[in-house]
Parts: sequence; C-alpha cells; structure tokens
Amino acid sequence: MTARQPIRIQGLRKDYNQAGRLVPALDGIDLDIQGGAIFGILGRSGAGKTTLIRCLNRLETPSAGRILLGETDLAALGPVELRRQRRRIGMIFQHFHLLHSRTAAENIAAPLEIAGVTKPERQKRVDELLELVGLAGRGKAYPSQLSGGQKQRVGIARALAADPDVLLSDEATSALDAETTAQILDLLRDVNRRLGVTIVLITHELSVVKSICDGAALLEGGRLVEAGALRDLVADPSSRLGQWLLPALPEVPSDGRHLELRYGGRGGDTILSDLTLHLGQSPALLGGGVEQVAGTSVGRLLIRLPHDADLDSVFAFLGTRGVWAVVR
Ligand SMILES: Nc1ncnc2c1ncn2[C@@H]1O[C@H](COP(=O)(O)OP(=O)(O)O)[C@@H](O)[C@H]1O
Ligand SMILES: [Mg+2]
Repeated sequence: MTARQPIRIQGLRKDYNQAGRLVPALDGIDLDIQGGAIFGILGRSGAGKTTLIRCLNRLETPSAGRILLGETDLAALGPVELRRQRRRIGMIFQHFHLLHSRTAAENIAAPLEIAGVTKPERQKRVDELLELVGLAGRGKAYPSQLSGGQKQRVGIARALAADPDVLLSDEATSALDAETTAQILDLLRDVNRRLGVTIVLITHELSVVKSICDGAALLEGGRLVEAGALRDLVADPSSRLGQWLLPALPEVPSDGRHLELRYGGRGGDTILSDLTLHLGQSPALLGGGVEQVAGTSVGRLLIRLPHDADLDSVFAFLGTRGVWAVVR
C-alpha cells in the first residue's frame, strides 16, 4: 500500500453559460480531503456535486481555482499531461456506463488497453480485479447477464484497473436496492483499506455517509456550507451535518428539566446509570439513541431530570464524564 496524496481544492469556481448568462455552479470551494480517506459530498439536487466531481476528474475545466492532487494542480494541466494524470483518478457511475457488447473482463480491460498494457498483463490484471470485487470466474459474462450489484462491481474493477490514487463515485449506489447498496459500500470500504485509494463519494443519502465515510462536506447552491471529519462534526452542536448524523430527538416542553446529552466513544455508554447513582434517582429517557459514526459509537439522548435535581451539579458531573449537555 502506497501513501496516498491529499486533495486540496482552493477557490474552485465553475460557471456555466445558461441562456447567454454565466451562472456559477461552483462558487469558490475550498476543501481539503486527506489521502486514503473515504470522503462524502452531500447536497440536494442542483447543489453542484456532479460539477465538483467532474472538475476533479477534469471532464470539466474549472473557471478558476486550483485542484491539487499531491503537488499537481489538475486545474492547470494541458491536454497531454492531463491524459497522463487522469489515470490517477478512477470513476464509477450511478448507471454503471458499461459497454454492453463487451464482456465483464473486456470492460475492465478497456482502460488498460488504452494505456498500452500488453495482452498477457491485461489478462493477469483483470483476473486480479475480478477476484478483488468478488466476481472471480464471471469475466466472460456480458453486462445483460449480470445483476445491478454485479454490474457496479465491474464498474469498480474497471475504475481501479490503472491503480488510481483516487476513486470518484457519483451516486454509485442510487440505482441499487438497500441490500445491494450495503454490499457495494462494504466493497468500497474493503478496496479503500486494501489499496489505500482515496474515495470521494457523492450522495444524497445520509446513510451512505454514516456507514462508510471518514469525513463529509455539505454543498448548497454551489457553496461549501461545512466540511470536516465525521467525529468532529457530530461533536459540534452548531454543525448541520453533525445534527443529521445523530439520532433525532422528540419535541419536549421547555421547562428546564429536559437535557440533551451527547457523547462520543464508549465513555458515555453507562451515563444513564452513572447519573442515576449521582442523583439518587433515575432520570427518564425520552428519546435519542446511539449510532455508529466513522467507526465509533456516538450517543445523543434526551432525558428528563427528577424535580429536585440540581442542574449545576448535574452539568458538573456530566462534564467529568466528557458528556456534552444542553437544556432543551
Ligand atoms: N453542462 C451544464 N450546462 C449548464 N448548466 C449546468 C450544466 N451542468 C450543471 N449545470 C447547472 O449547475 C448546477 C449544479 O448542477 P450539478 O453539479 O449537476 O448538481 P448536483 O449534482 O448536485 O445535482 C445546476 O444548477 C445545474 O443546472
Ligand atoms: Mg449530480
């Protein structure tokens, strides 16, 4: 596994000509993505997600700004250098984009053929890739003979054929059912761990981010609303992404007795029984829950304190346990 290079996006702008007017699809994006991470880009339809990813693989030429992959500015490359650098980036798509007249193996070999890899080497590489994506022995199948999930496995193998530093995914699980989505996400995580490839994944589904991403960004109207490591986002009460990643809470009357608690890691798992011991009475648990986010458990609970509980002492106690709290 080689050390993968970070992606640093600086002042990225993309204007489209719409009816004679230049309209920004991306309006000054600054974003750092750690090498080897799985990074999710969230946003509604029209937010600029696809434009961002098309700038990353240079299917679009940015109007301004820099896209640094390691030391190379992808935004500034001429055609010859661009062809070479593009091999560092693989891409998978919602509708797979496979060639239907070619077998799975031929689809996977296509980028290698273009790169001038010899036939025996191609065959060896294709076999490795089929094995990697769980399709060993299925190389002779045509796309029409494969399920949606298997087609996406072929798409992933093809994207990895030239051993890229970065794998881009534009809604690659949006056309798949829930079970197949989970399998493809498992495969992406496996590929990320085994090959160290950085994965940038566009999605409108929070569950996708929750299950495999290390970090995420939220786009809105071509601007970056926020970005960060998932564990930092969930720990930040002002983060919108953090709010969405945590379990929702029910509405309660604001009578000064309801507390929202948040914690990360395992420290908070016994907080209710600890608090019961501290108070000499049990608080009521009204909602919330514990989720796995970025591989750690994060909790968000809504509790009602007993009538005579002393708030200052409760806050002090929660503080000693590393649990964040606010009156709701
Ligand atoms: N080729 C294009 N020409 C003109 N406008 C475009 C083009 N591609 C995208 N846009 C516009 O840019 C904005 C962002 O689109 P897109 O990146 O596809 O968003 P998302 O993937 O988040 O749904 C939208 O307003 C869209 O209409
Ligand atoms: Mg899109």
